[in-house]
Amino acid sequence: MKIGILYYATGRYICFWEEFYKSAKKFLFPNYEKKFIVYTDSDEIYAQDSNDVIKVFAQSSKWPISVCDKFAILLSGRSLYDDCDYLFHFNANMRFIAPIGEEILPKEENGHISVAEWLNHKLKSTPMTFPYDRNPESSAYIPYGEGAHYFMSGVHGGRRQEVIQMYTELEDNIRKDFAKGIIALWHDESHMNKYLLDKNPLIIPPEYAIPENWKYKGYRNNRKGLLLNKRHWKYGGHSYLRGISDKKITPLKYWISKITNITF
Ligand code: GAL
Repeated sequence: MKIGILYYATGRYICFWEEFYKSAKKFLFPNYEKKFIVYTDSDEIYAQDSNDVIKVFAQSSKWPISVCDKFAILLSGRSLYDDCDYLFHFNANMRFIAPIGEEILPKEENGHISVAEWLNHKLKSTPMTFPYDRNPESSAYIPYGEGAHYFMSGVHGGRRQEVIQMYTELEDNIRKDFAKGIIALWHDESHMNKYLLDKNPLIIPPEYAIPENWKYKGYRNNRKGLLLNKRHWKYGGHSYLRGISDKKITPLKYWISKITNITF
């Protein structure tokens, strides 16, 4: 069995690739063959000549267009997926720290789709407060009170056919919104939450993808995947990564942003 790992990192986000690849080689689906399809505009990336890495050109665009374009980009190289039984996508800043295997492969009852749940919303939100898109004009619209989970679009996967089908529908909905001048609240994620509203995906528990700086008790010791802190000065900070600023955040500003919650 072969699993295609779909990785999307244009512009400065490519700084996460090396750690992603090394940790995935070690911990992600260790018993299966993997093929990494990397969508990027970088000329050269770590391990690009390895026989399990395929680099595909993806145009860099400004955030949030870059996230809205995610499904179009992941569909652009779909012919490369033909030999894959399953496809999984993880956010660029994901790092695996413990073995992850078949337990996240969805079954028929899940419609062959798996998706992670955001820990903060699992613990603190209700169907009335989930950050779903509440604009009835958007194809991502979910009325208050509906929905039982708030899913993370940055960690999902499933059987090839079903993932491609999901991406095709989501891409279509995002373009329909664009045509009306609408961008959903949390972009690709709002559309994915709408798509999964009446489905029964396998829920990948939050400990598979926890922001590295979150300290929820009971979740610290059994974490399997970390979302590296994009705000950190090590990576330049949010605005630098998103190409909004050409200046990297300084360690001092980083600490100020941590204390005050202001994003630089
Ligand atoms: C943020 C995340 C967004 C979105 C939001 C939902 O932490 O950066 O992409 O998922 O949570 O509450």
